[in-house]
Amino acid sequence: MSMVCLSDFEAYAKKYLPKIAWDYFAAGADDCTTRDENILAYKRIHFRPRMLRDVSMMDIRTKILGSEISFPVGIAPTGFHQLAWPDGEKSTARAARAMDICYIASTYSTCSLEEISMAAPGGLRWFQLYIHRNRAASQQLVRRAEALGFQALVLTVDLPYTGKRRDDVRNGFRLPPHMKVKNLEGAFEVCKMSLLDPSVTWNDVYWLQSLTRLPIIIKGILTGEDAALAVKHGVQGIIVSNHGGRQLDEGPATIDALVEVVEAVRGRVEVYVDGGIRKGSDVLKALALGAKCVFIGRPALWGLAYKGEEGLQDVLRILQDEFRLSMALAG
Ligand code: FNR
Repeated sequence: MSMVCLSDFEAYAKKYLPKIAWDYFAAGADDCTTRDENILAYKRIHFRPRMLRDVSMMDIRTKILGSEISFPVGIAPTGFHQLAWPDGEKSTARAARAMDICYIASTYSTCSLEEISMAAPGGLRWFQLYIHRNRAASQQLVRRAEALGFQALVLTVDLPYTGKRRDDVRNGFRLPPHMKVKNLEGAFEVCKMSLLDPSVTWNDVYWLQSLTRLPIIIKGILTGEDAALAVKHGVQGIIVSNHGGRQLDEGPATIDALVEVVEAVRGRVEVYVDGGIRKGSDVLKALALGAKCVFIGRPALWGLAYKGEEGLQDVLRILQDEFRLSMALAG
C-alpha cells in the first residue's frame, strides 16, 4: 500500500482494525457534527500567498514552553494505544522522540508512565491529567509524572462526564481483558469514567498548582472568556480543543475558536490547537491564526495501527513534508 497522505492511514486503519477499536477511535458525540466540522472548517480558510520571497532555506523548528521541537506538531493525548498496536504508548513515545516532537501521554494509557518513560528516555513529554473524585490518586499521578521527568501537566477540562458516542454505546465498548489502564492500577478500580470529578472548577487549578512546580496547560478551552480566566488563574498554556468532537456536539470547530482565544490571551501565554488537522497546510493555517503548535489525535492512532512506531513516524514525516511545502508555496 502506498501511503501518501494521512487519509491513506485512515483507510488502512478502518480496513484492518477490529470494528470495536476503529469505532472507539473514530467516535464523535451525538451526530458527530463537531467532529466533522473540525475538518471542514479548515477547508473554508484560504491563503493569501506571496511570491518571489526566496524560500530556498526554511527553518520549521520552533519552541514550546522553551523546549525546541523539529516542527510545530505534537501528539495529543488519546487513550488505549494498545487497541491500535501491541506495544501501545511505548511505540508512540519512541516515534515522538525519533521525530523530536512533544508527546502528551494520556492518563488513560495502556502502558504506565514508567513504561512510557523507559521506552524513550529523554523525549519531550507532557502528562495529561483528569481530576478524579479520588484526589489522592490524582495527586499521586502528578508526583509520578514529575519524578519521571514529564515537563508539563495538561489538565483536560472538557470532560466532567463522557460525551454520548453512539457507536461505543451500541458496541458496549470496553477494554479487552488483557489490557489495563496501567496508570490507575492499584489506585482504585480502573476504567470507569464516572471516577472523574464533575464538580471541578477554576479553583482546582490553584489546587493543582499547590501540588507541583510543573507548568500547567489547560486543554479544552473554546471561548475568549475562558481563555481570559485561564490566564487569570496563572496557567502557562492553553490548548483550544473540543476533544475531537467527542464531548459537546455542535460547539465551534477548533480552528474557528482559536481566533477568539488568541485575541483574548494577547500573547500572555502560549496557545495551541487540536482537532481536524489532516494536512500540512492545516498546520500552517493554525499557525497563521496564532497557534504556537498543533496536536494530532486520530492520525497518530492510524499511524500506530499501520506499523506501530514506524507507522507513526511515517504519519509525522508526511505532515512535516507537507507543512514545509505549504510554507514555501505560501511564500
Ligand atoms: C481522545 N482525546 C483525549 N483527550 C484527553 O485529554 N485525554 C484522553 O484520554 C483522550 N482520549 C482520546 C481518545 C481518542 C480515541 C480520541 C480520538 C481522542 C482527545 C484528543 O486529545 C484530541 O483533543 C483530539 O483527538 C483531536 O482531534 P483529532 O486530531 O483526533 O481530530
